[in-house]
Formats: sequence, C-alpha cells, structure tokens
Amino acid sequence: MVNTLEWTDEGVVFIDQTKLPTEEVFVTCKNYEEVADAIRTMIVRGAPAIGVAAAMGVAIGARDISESSIEEFRRGFDEVCRVIAGTRPTAVNLFWAVKRMQTVFEKNSSKPIPQIKIILIDEAKHMHVEDIEANRAMGRHGAVLLPSTGGVLTHCNAGALATAGYGTALGVIRAAVESGKDIKVFADETRPFLQGSRLTAWELMKDGIPTTLISDNMAGWMMAKGKIQAVIVGADRIAANGDTANKIGTYSVSILAKEHGIPFYVAAPFSTVDMETPDGSKIPIEERASTEVTHLGGKQIAPTDCKVENPAFDVTPAKYIAAIITERGVAKAPFGESLRKLAAEPAVAVASK
Ligand code: MRU
Repeated sequence: MVNTLEWTDEGVVFIDQTKLPTEEVFVTCKNYEEVADAIRTMIVRGAPAIGVAAAMGVAIGARDISESSIEEFRRGFDEVCRVIAGTRPTAVNLFWAVKRMQTVFEKNSSKPIPQIKIILIDEAKHMHVEDIEANRAMGRHGAVLLPSTGGVLTHCNAGALATAGYGTALGVIRAAVESGKDIKVFADETRPFLQGSRLTAWELMKDGIPTTLISDNMAGWMMAKGKIQAVIVGADRIAANGDTANKIGTYSVSILAKEHGIPFYVAAPFSTVDMETPDGSKIPIEERASTEVTHLGGKQIAPTDCKVENPAFDVTPAKYIAAIITERGVAKAPFGESLRKLAAEPAVAVASK
C-alpha cells in the first residue's frame, strides 16, 4: 500500500501528490511551516490525510519550540495551531485534528515540557494508525452494500492517498474486491485538479483493481448505458443533517445517480462528521486559484484574463445519499437521527499507543 505520509526523526515525509502519476517523489517537511505549505499546495490532500498531516504539523511545531516556561511554550504552541488551522477551510478533519492536539496539550500541561512534546508526537503517530484502522472498519461495513458484480463510479480521490492508508470510498471498494466481489471501477477524472485521473486511476491500477477512466461529463451516459450499479465517494465535511461537502462535481453525480435509480454512497471517518454544522449551507467552501481552471499541466487553455470561478467543493443534499458509511457503522435517512446515534458510539479502538 502506498505510504501517503509518515512521521520520521528527520521530519514529516509525504509522497508529493502534485507530481503523481508520472513521478513518485517524496518530500520531507522539517518544520511546521513546511507542513502547512504541503497542505496548502496539495502535496498532501484528501480530508483524512490533511487531518493526520495537521496533527503531525502541530507535533513537529511543538517539538521545535525553544521554551523557558510553560507560558512561553503555550504562546508558541498557539501560533503553530493557528498557522496549521489556516491552511485549508473545508475539510473539517483539519480542525478536528488541531483541536485534538490542543486538548491533549491542555490535559498534560502540568507535565515537564520535554514530556509534553513526546506526548504530542505520540498522539499524532497514533492518529495515523487510527485512520488506517477506521478505513478498514469502513471497508468491512461498506463492502456488503456494493454489488457482487458490476460497475462502481467514484469521483475525486478518496483512496489511500487521501488518507493515512487504505482509503475511505476506495477502502470500501478494496474490501469488496478482497471479499470476492467482481467490481469494475469507473473513475471520474475530476476537473480541474484531476485527482481522479492522476491519483485514483494510479492507485487502483497499482492494486490491480479493474479501472476505467472517464471525463466528468461522461458519467451520465455511462449510467444511462447500464454500466454503473453504484456510486461511492468520500467527504470533506458532513453536516449534522447528512448534507455532504465533497470535491466539486460530486453534487452533479448525485443527481445523475438519483435520476438513474443508482445508490449513491458516502464513505468517511467520523472525524469528517461535523455535528456542530447543522446543514450544508453552513459549510465553508474553498475557492482556489483560477489557474487550476485556465491551465492544464502548466499550459494555458483559456483566454488571458478570462473570468473564472473555482469552488473546490460542492454540497450534496442528504436526500440524494443512500447511506453514509463510517467506521462506527452505516447511517441511513433520517441522517439527523442516525448520525446522532453514531456520534454517541465509542471511537474505533486501536491497540498500539
Ligand atoms: O481538494 P482535495 O483533493 O483535498 O479534496 C478532497 C478530496 O480528495 C475529496 O473531496 C475526497 O473525495 C474526500 S477525502 C477522502
């Protein structure tokens, strides 16, 4: 399985996702500013991976604070958290991770500072392991929902590369294939950043899972031709009522699925569920650089100074979602109720801490 990110003594190591699929290059971020840049520039991307990267960024930042008192350490720590939390706005896992690191710090703030630093590093490493465990659990819960034979469409990349490993939506597909199902994946290329063609096709092909790449505007026709039996995507933030923010284009796919009577599933760890956001209208949507739309592989493909909009995410209303697959179980409509029930469940236990 591809190593998306890893804590090492030299720094946080990421596979550079901006270089895939043509180059497999790893970058080592030696301080928290470099981790923040890696998140901002999408060297690392995908909500759960961003969460773990954020935790590691906070840990490396805390490690490097040269403190003489806990007050001074706290000031440095707050600044690290502020910078990491300011990198990208939509994936709630980022804020969840920073908050978790802050809580761990508060709980241990009476301990000697060198010990606090070790505890924070251990917490970040633990979140890495936990994320993979959550994805495997999601796979177990979700695999049964996929057809025993047929086409499954996915949008963007919700795979090993979007997580600490195994993947959310692609984790469910992996688990279904491991259980003997005959799944053929259709991967939307996912304009403008092309996570589908650059990342999803790459990682599924590496695993030998049959994958067909299509451009985004082909999805409806593939459904009309009977080639798609289910859709499964990841999520960047799920509101308390089930409305789900995911990569731009997901909303259109959900409507196409509805029209063709195809179940549309969302797979995400519970850290993506934001019970404090009541519905999708309150989810902040990141607007990214216009060059992502006007340029392709560094080449200009639109008139100079062309007016552009580039929202990186859209919101799929809960009414189009057949089920939300989490590591705690599967939520179905009414999502307000089912998500509240899952929120009360204990987190997936991970042995090694
Ligand atoms: O902008 P990105 O690439 O960080 O977008 C996030 C995503 O990869 C997706 O929206 C994904 O489907 C959900 S994260 C598993």
